[in-house]
Amino acid sequence: MDVILRAGTADDAEACGIICYEAFKKISEQHNFPPDFPTPEPAIGLLSYLLADPSVYSVIAELDGKVIGSNFLWEKAIIAGVGPITIDPAVQNQAVGRRLMEEVLRRTKERGFAGVRLVQAAYHNRSLSLYTKLGFDTREPLSLMNGPSLGLKVPCYSVRPASEKDLAACNSLSFALHGHDRSAELQDAINQGTARVVEHDGRISGYTTAIGFISHALGESNEDLKALIGEATEFFGAGFLLPTRNSDLLRWCLARGLRVVQPMTLMSKGLYNEPRGAFLPSIIY
Ligand SMILES: CC(C)(COP(=O)(O)OP(=O)(O)OC[C@H]1O[C@@H](n2cnc3c(N)ncnc32)[C@H](O)[C@@H]1OP(=O)(O)O)[C@@H](O)C(=O)NCCC(=O)NCCS
Repeated sequence: MDVILRAGTADDAEACGIICYEAFKKISEQHNFPPDFPTPEPAIGLLSYLLADPSVYSVIAELDGKVIGSNFLWEKAIIAGVGPITIDPAVQNQAVGRRLMEEVLRRTKERGFAGVRLVQAAYHNRSLSLYTKLGFDTREPLSLMNGPSLGLKVPCYSVRPASEKDLAACNSLSFALHGHDRSAELQDAINQGTARVVEHDGRISGYTTAIGFISHALGESNEDLKALIGEATEFFGAGFLLPTRNSDLLRWCLARGLRVVQPMTLMSKGLYNEPRGAFLPSIIY
């Protein structure tokens, strides 16, 4: 196949969005899981947003002048995030995904990122194999959790909206836990009004950019995360990603009626610090 790679433009949103919807639909139906996008429109919306965001690098695969796939690299933090990568189901398993992955990995080298990470659907043998062959290591089994908001408080842990003046404390928590801060994302979430901090013993002991698919949270202990999850008024997107090895937190969520939607896997290449505390990763950062 004479496949050409090029940068994405706003005009690619519809073609890429339809492929994104169809590629995820096909693989999830094969495994009897709910589709990532219920209709093409949210996929087109997401890709329009990514194609317009200067902090996201995009690459499009074309065959005979027709778009057949796309991939994205989120470049806001020192650890870059990959995805979504999707290939037209008619041409999957013919090395187009490999080329789109190799291109974003080339970019991470060129831009000097310390590491790169992604989250894959754990049931998808092909993506797991491809990423592993390209040098990604499996870091953390995840459970995507969803359900009605819990509307509960954890005694001695108080949750409030985060503001600019909390940035330094949150960033140093992130640094202590992950070895780097995620200041840009947190700043965005503060601007959007979704960020929350939790206070315990007179100090900020955890924060979240929101409880949801494209958000992250961290805390000194599970109690911080329980407080943040408990007081979240909604779980954004498909739900939130919970490290499955954190049995205490998983049991706590299950006992309160939340359901496991699907298993996923956090993978990374390059710098990865084993987190030293409780965390909920985002699908992308
Ligand atoms: C995942 C996806 C992007 C991969 O792209 P693709 O073009 O189909 O895959 P490629 O042909 O480039 O690569 C597949 C590789 O996995 C290997 N592979 C596939 N199934 C395998 C299996 N069960 N066991 C071992 N290896 C396997 C292939 O041999 C190939 O290896 P190679 O590059 O060394 O030859 C594409 O299939 C897709 O869009 N899937 C649906 C959406 C999705 O899941 N996106 C990823 C979200 S994390």
